[in-house]
Amino acid sequence: MRTHLCGEITETLTGESVTLCGWVSKSRDLGGLIFIGLRDHAGLVQVVIEPDNAPAFAVGETLRQEFCIQVNGQVRARPESQWNDDMATGRVEVVADSVAVLAKAAPLPLLMSDEDGEEVRLKYRYLDLRRERLQRNLRLRAALTRAIRNHLDQAGFQDIETPILTRATPEGARDYVVPSRVQQGQFFALPQSPQIFKQLLMMGGMDRYYQIARCFRDEDLRADRQPEFTQLDIEMAFVEEGDVQAMAEGLIRSVFETVLQVSLPKPFPTMTWAEAMRRFGSDKPDLRNPIELVDVDAHVQSLEFKVFADPANDPASRVAAMVVPGGATLTRRQIDGYAEQASRLGAKGLAWLKVNDADQGLAGVQSPIAKFLDEATWSGILADTGAQSGDLIFFGGGHAAEVAHFMGAVRNQVGHDLALIGEGWAPLWVVDFPMFEYDPETDRHYALHHPFTAPTSADADALKSQPAAALSRAYDLVLNGAEIGGGSIRIHSETMQQAVFDVLGIGAEEAKSRFGFLLDALGYGCPPHGGIAFGLDRIAALMAGEASIREVIAFPKTTNAGCPLTGAPSAIDAEQLDELAVSVKPPA
Ligand code: AMO
Ligand code: AMP
Repeated sequence: MRTHLCGEITETLTGESVTLCGWVSKSRDLGGLIFIGLRDHAGLVQVVIEPDNAPAFAVGETLRQEFCIQVNGQVRARPESQWNDDMATGRVEVVADSVAVLAKAAPLPLLMSDEDGEEVRLKYRYLDLRRERLQRNLRLRAALTRAIRNHLDQAGFQDIETPILTRATPEGARDYVVPSRVQQGQFFALPQSPQIFKQLLMMGGMDRYYQIARCFRDEDLRADRQPEFTQLDIEMAFVEEGDVQAMAEGLIRSVFETVLQVSLPKPFPTMTWAEAMRRFGSDKPDLRNPIELVDVDAHVQSLEFKVFADPANDPASRVAAMVVPGGATLTRRQIDGYAEQASRLGAKGLAWLKVNDADQGLAGVQSPIAKFLDEATWSGILADTGAQSGDLIFFGGGHAAEVAHFMGAVRNQVGHDLALIGEGWAPLWVVDFPMFEYDPETDRHYALHHPFTAPTSADADALKSQPAAALSRAYDLVLNGAEIGGGSIRIHSETMQQAVFDVLGIGAEEAKSRFGFLLDALGYGCPPHGGIAFGLDRIAALMAGEASIREVIAFPKTTNAGCPLTGAPSAIDAEQLDELAVSVKPPA
């Protein structure tokens, strides 16, 4: 139906006859000439219909945006005054000999631009997808998966599929479940990840596995979270953490070179979880943001000001300072904005101090807490934070985990608002995570990664008696402040696996009923193994420069986990419910 693609029409084709197919991007009737912007996946070219070509002109007059048409014509150079060097095809146009309408388009329900709202974009996703931005993003994503497959195939990994209809996998979110018709009253769970199966593959002697796998998690959605998303899932037998990290780093470096022609730093820097939390208040710090948290506990321990003195004297708490370069120009409103952000995240307050003149001691500062400070305290804080005249300092006091939570968030926001975040790529390995997170409300321990992650110490009794002290053999890969991957060396002994289950409050009976098959498998010569999974959507979004992973997924879901295009999820009819022996309660 066509001889060329719209985006291919350049000066080298001048004088040639071409046949093109595509959509009308816009059409203008200019003093008897009709100009059509004709678009296909390869680009946009200008088509001119001249009035002396009466049949083509008559068709041209009926064209509206998104009509699907076929044009046959001659490529002609544009006069230099009409060049448009923003377009690859901007120095030529196609003079139509004939124009055929292949399919009409109804008046459009959206603008087909970035102005369109999310709901309408997703409802008419087939129109939204015609836009250059989405075309480019999905092409980039395909290039990414191609580069991944090429790299891993060459490195001796086997692509193996694992079940979608399966049992619950413990990644910490709620499961999507599917009722069984054949075994009424029984349910499958969709996998939150292929975690257990990839471990079983190692026990099955597969040695090097990968899969570009769909995962399903019923959790609160955000810009970087979808209920179904894609992992590049990897597992290796007979490895230690260094082997997995070296493989993962080589892979990421090679796909960035292939897809973006970007060389990432070599090697990726590594930081312990404790250091990341202390310096950046986050386990996924964006190292392009120059702001750091500095502990000032030693200086404020003996102040009358309990807000600081109490946490400074409690080993589980801290008082952290954060210098905002040039922040003395922030208005009261802006400062209050950050304080509100902090309090939404659980802070009891966010103290601030403007350094108007660093040489004048306390006389040179402006702050609601200045009255609580003395000269020695202030000069100690000034020296440790390195603040300069013209800077602002935020202070956060409280339990270390809470301080990290709100100060880390304020750090990100300030970095963004004041445009402090540099260009480029900042990868980071975060290692030495705690094994468990303790929730005082439920008095329970939760696995920070997942329950199959090995602890650094092989002493199962010590793990059970002092779970809070245990570190795991897990590693996360962070890129520009996004967690793009995470993995670990796995437990390969039954005793240790049961010890971890014990700490998590999963007794022997429950462990047997939920994971008995895995525990059994551990008893038949399980090789030491480990792996990692990357969030493919997140990597694609970062590469595409998109803030949301929805922009790199063809048919994503909205924030209430629905699909406006198909109307999923939807009710099913009574007959189907009957077959499944499922009854539905009225919505709560
Ligand atoms: P984890 O739960 O850390 O590890 O997931 C691995 C990576 O998947 C991405 N990711 C998501 N992306 C989009 N939407 C989501 N809802 C979502 N949840 C996670 C993140 C994350 O780093 N089985 C382990 C891996 C292993 O141990 O090998 C796992 O799933 O980029
Ligand atoms: P107060 O004396 O409680 O009014 O607090 C004085 C200042 O300390 C205010 O600017 C508060 O925002 C700030 N503040 C209170 N609690 C904290 C905290 N936990 N961390 C940091 N600043 C705080």
